[in-house]
Amino acid sequence: MVLNLNKKKSVKEMTKRHFVSYTNPSSQIAEQFRTIRTNIQFSSIDQKHKTLIITSPSSGEGKTTSAINLAISISQQGERVLLIDANLRRPTLHTSFNLKDSYGLTDVLMGRVPLEEATFQTQIGRLEVLTSGIIPPNPTELIGSKAMSFFIKDIKEEFDVIIFDCPPVLETTDTKLLAGQCDGVVLVLNSGKSDREKAAEANRLLHLVRAKVLGVILNERE
Ligand SMILES: Nc1ncnc2c1ncn2[C@@H]1O[C@H](COP(=O)(O)OP(=O)(O)OP(=O)(O)O)[C@@H](O)[C@H]1O
Ligand SMILES: [Mg+2]
Repeated sequence: MVLNLNKKKSVKEMTKRHFVSYTNPSSQIAEQFRTIRTNIQFSSIDQKHKTLIITSPSSGEGKTTSAINLAISISQQGERVLLIDANLRRPTLHTSFNLKDSYGLTDVLMGRVPLEEATFQTQIGRLEVLTSGIIPPNPTELIGSKAMSFFIKDIKEEFDVIIFDCPPVLETTDTKLLAGQCDGVVLVLNSGKSDREKAAEANRLLHLVRAKVLGVILNERE
């Protein structure tokens, strides 16, 4: 799947790109995300892919852009979707949704606040967002904690689909820890930037933790 969006730098333009599936549902990009959505839904007949990881080999390849558009696309089918900022190294979902990153994932995991109080209900279908929360000094420990496993079990009962916007797989252990506990991984590659070896290494590392790589989004960032 090749995405080709215009390259613009302003926050307004970035946000526009992030939300194109919502603001312009008849665009080619929105159509491509619907195809990705369908491919994920049909990649397993017996088992529903409820928990999805979005990652890439390195930073800046389009993970957050893809995570938001995919979440919008799935929520447009009437599903209750939770989009989580699990990139505790460089969280940006709160900026995209113009939210204060006061309470979020880390606060829920540390038992500081219940999930219902930390999630933000968007105006897009039944899409809810959980920002990263306050970044602790030990993000990997938190991601790999028992609290995280219990949290995943709980949210699977409440939501139809959960999407984790994760850090680059080659740069932290966090994504591998999470991928091993989730139903599937979508790998985002920047056609201009990702090199073949890094992509293969990311795929290999994900397989090592028994993650199921459901597909690859080739993000054509000029
Ligand atoms: N197809 C595209 N065309 C042009 N610009 C793009 C495209 N995809 C993403 N961008 C822009 O590139 C920047 C990085 O994208 P994004 O935040 O989605 O990447 P990321 O992989 O989440 O980065 P990070 O590793 O920092 O979390 C953003 O400013 C985004 O708007
Ligand atoms: Mg990101």
